[in-house]
Amino acid sequence: MTVSIADIEAARARLAPVLKRTPLQHSATLSRMLEAEVLIKPENLQKTGSFKIRGAYNRVMALTAEQARRGVVAASAGNHGQALAYAATAAGVKATIVMPETAAIAKVEATRSYGQTVVLRGVNYQEARRAADQLCQQTGATFVDAYDDPWVIAGQGTAGLEIAEEGADAVVVPVGGGGLIAGVTVALAARAPHAVVIGAEAAGSPQLSTSLRRGEASAVDRPVETIADGLATGRLGVLPFELTRGRVHDVATVDDFEIGEAVLLLLERMKLLAEGAGATALAGALKLKGQLKGKRVVVLVSGGNIDINLLDRIIGHGLVKAGRLYRFRMTLPDRPVELSRVLALIGALGANVRAIDHDRTQRDVALGAALVELELETRGADHIDLIRRELKSHGYRIEDED
Ligand SMILES: Cc1ncc(COP(=O)(O)O)c(C=O)c1O
Repeated sequence: MTVSIADIEAARARLAPVLKRTPLQHSATLSRMLEAEVLIKPENLQKTGSFKIRGAYNRVMALTAEQARRGVVAASAGNHGQALAYAATAAGVKATIVMPETAAIAKVEATRSYGQTVVLRGVNYQEARRAADQLCQQTGATFVDAYDDPWVIAGQGTAGLEIAEEGADAVVVPVGGGGLIAGVTVALAARAPHAVVIGAEAAGSPQLSTSLRRGEASAVDRPVETIADGLATGRLGVLPFELTRGRVHDVATVDDFEIGEAVLLLLERMKLLAEGAGATALAGALKLKGQLKGKRVVVLVSGGNIDINLLDRIIGHGLVKAGRLYRFRMTLPDRPVELSRVLALIGALGANVRAIDHDRTQRDVALGAALVELELETRGADHIDLIRRELKSHGYRIEDED
């Protein structure tokens, strides 16, 4: 089994009626940071919020009439499930998406909103996957794997064709099971052979580097954990490994902090909302900056379906790191004017109080004292230094929280 450039061209023809164009977007800020010409391929703006529609729709449209009558099944709580539901509805085919009972309600509802059936089975992905297999045996439906499937890979490869047409010296691609990087690699090898392909993986689920080291498609041998949930497959597909073997120039392994920073950079600088997996290629490009200098670099931002609570945490971390949010605590004498004095001092320094907690009853607070926890909006590290100095010079003892 393999995937050729002809398969990818055929996928492009099938996808034409549903696909959104996602032209490359140039970023002056990222170009300056990387000392390269940086262009974003914004697949977060694609239908269903990720590139996954490419593979899913190609698979559905390649079904025989009999297969289409029996329908399709996927096991996925993520973008593949949503994309397959959308693709099946668009093609008039019945789809059943099996998710673990623990799947986030927002994901269940988003998938249902595409007009297909979601069933909740098992406590984790493996159990949901077994239930999906059983369903296929009972009904004769076709199981659509998220990445180890030639039609899915050919569909993902259409993103590579588009990139080749707009020109690139290097393309940085996020890697979960490897379907996306496999398709992009085949497309570029045929249409832009001078371009190098770089894989970006999450340190919490490093199946690409593990597989390359072992010389075969491998599973990582510890539990996977990353904010880039789209990449947390814990294993690389067999076909993706065969298609990318010897053709991936380098791998950048990035941790959750680096991924979070990339989410913020895309949001602030490009006004693009990316999920963790979607921002991983940018984190990878920043890590391999030295290799990319002077090149025309395409960074594939693969999806934007981020949980808003996670986004809130990422923004909070980013603001603290940039000195635009300052959290600290202090103990005050428990007298009527003490708190208003502190607040007046802070106000005079131009900081805005975002949250405050005043507590006299906690066990480790002495009688006659109050513990105050404050969160301030600040202008940067210098502003925070000034606030600390000023509070100290008035005799207050402060303790940083971050
Ligand atoms: C947003 C996003 N990016 C990247 C990937 C990784 O794709 P692949 O499993 O084909 O490597 C996924 C997979 O779900 C995804 O949802």
